[in-house]
Amino acid sequence: MFQDSRSKTAEFYPASNLFSSIKNGINWIKNPYDALDKLSRSNGRAFWLSLPGFGRVFIAGTPSLIEAIRKEPALTGGIGMTFLRPVLGENSVIMLHGNEHKCRRHQLAPLFNEVFFDHAEELTERYAQEEIFQASGIISAHSLFSKINLRVITELLVPKENESQQKEISSAVEKFLTSFSNPLFLFAKPLQVSYKGRTPWDRMRKNRNELVSLIEPTVKEHPVFGQLPKDTAIEEIIALILFGHETAASAGAWFIYHLLSHPSVTNALLLESAPSASWEAAINESMRLCPTVVHLTRVATSDTTLTYQDAHGEEATVLFRKGEKILPCSYLSQRDPAVFPDPDLFEPKRFSNGESLFRNSFFPFGFGARICIGKHLALRQMQIIASTLLTTRSVTLVNKNLGPERNQVVIMPKKGCLIKLD
Ligand code: HEM
Repeated sequence: MFQDSRSKTAEFYPASNLFSSIKNGINWIKNPYDALDKLSRSNGRAFWLSLPGFGRVFIAGTPSLIEAIRKEPALTGGIGMTFLRPVLGENSVIMLHGNEHKCRRHQLAPLFNEVFFDHAEELTERYAQEEIFQASGIISAHSLFSKINLRVITELLVPKENESQQKEISSAVEKFLTSFSNPLFLFAKPLQVSYKGRTPWDRMRKNRNELVSLIEPTVKEHPVFGQLPKDTAIEEIIALILFGHETAASAGAWFIYHLLSHPSVTNALLLESAPSASWEAAINESMRLCPTVVHLTRVATSDTTLTYQDAHGEEATVLFRKGEKILPCSYLSQRDPAVFPDPDLFEPKRFSNGESLFRNSFFPFGFGARICIGKHLALRQMQIIASTLLTTRSVTLVNKNLGPERNQVVIMPKKGCLIKLD
């Protein structure tokens, strides 16, 4: 039976009155896991929704629909990220689409070649040991991953003259990142205002300018960034730091939370050194349960109809008008019980044959032409940091049953997952 999913619009935002619509919108921003659990109970895994910052969007979380989206060239990323333009500019790979996007991915590819990986691994091992050795008492797993990742990524992207210059750049990056401690600031246009240099928006611009002035002199000599126009290169470096650093720190914090909550899985894992297939299965399972990026964003570049099988196995169609947004939702599809039985359990053995079996249901790093450029780097780094931490220190969770908390554009465990080091 054909059915136009246009008729299924979730009653979420705007809700029946202004107060509840604001409350619902804030809940989506603060805790999208909870919002999606509630929405999917009454709407299934494919429905229209009005969202703050995005407007009306289609949420897609069924395997057959994801497959149709992957195969449809008229659905592209890039233009869906316009809300980040004031922060990232217009020229980084994340913002581009079509041929420009393809060409930039090609230009950036040498950043992620074998030589880069060897160097990245060596730096991760060195900085993980240093930071873990120095850490004491109660700390957040997020902040530990964040410190290590930041040192690694800054050193990889911005060649250093000396140690003090490196520290100066790292602290300028940290300062810039703290500009986004209130996530509403990224989504709500009315908060993005200037007034005599005193608003949070003004502070973000100032912090960004300080960072730019430190990065600028390093760009020309860089083998990859030196090939790009200077302003583009700077935007690209900032985007890579912003995207590559918080995503990985938040996913690392979820990984530590899941490992410490499941000692028998972890004890077996610790018999093997990382990186390994078993460690990768465990990190995949952690990202399945708690994706740090809850959904991808695609935009229809022309009127497009997709045909797919709905949750009851019936044929359904959905029409997207040019400019409409589709959000392939990893959180919903990765908890689909038809694909992942007992979806709320942490069971790394689901991934013992790799992730390819779940192509249309598991995509914490996205898919297609826009798949995360740093996926393999992040996967290896998280394994190295987690195994160094758990083999060299005695670590316990401070709080059990941690819920999610938004951290800029990504989702991390509450308070970044507090751990006690003895
Ligand atoms: C656990 C860590 C990470 C997660 C969960 C993650 C997740 C994602 C996701 C979901 C996307 C969107 C893909 C799509 O739209 O199909 C993405 C894109 C991207 N990521 Fe990551 N990422 C991580 C680490 C990194 C790292 C370490 C870097 C760089 C050093 C990085 C750089 C990028 C870039 C540049 C894009 C845009 C790609 C494009 O539009 O072509 N990410 N990432």
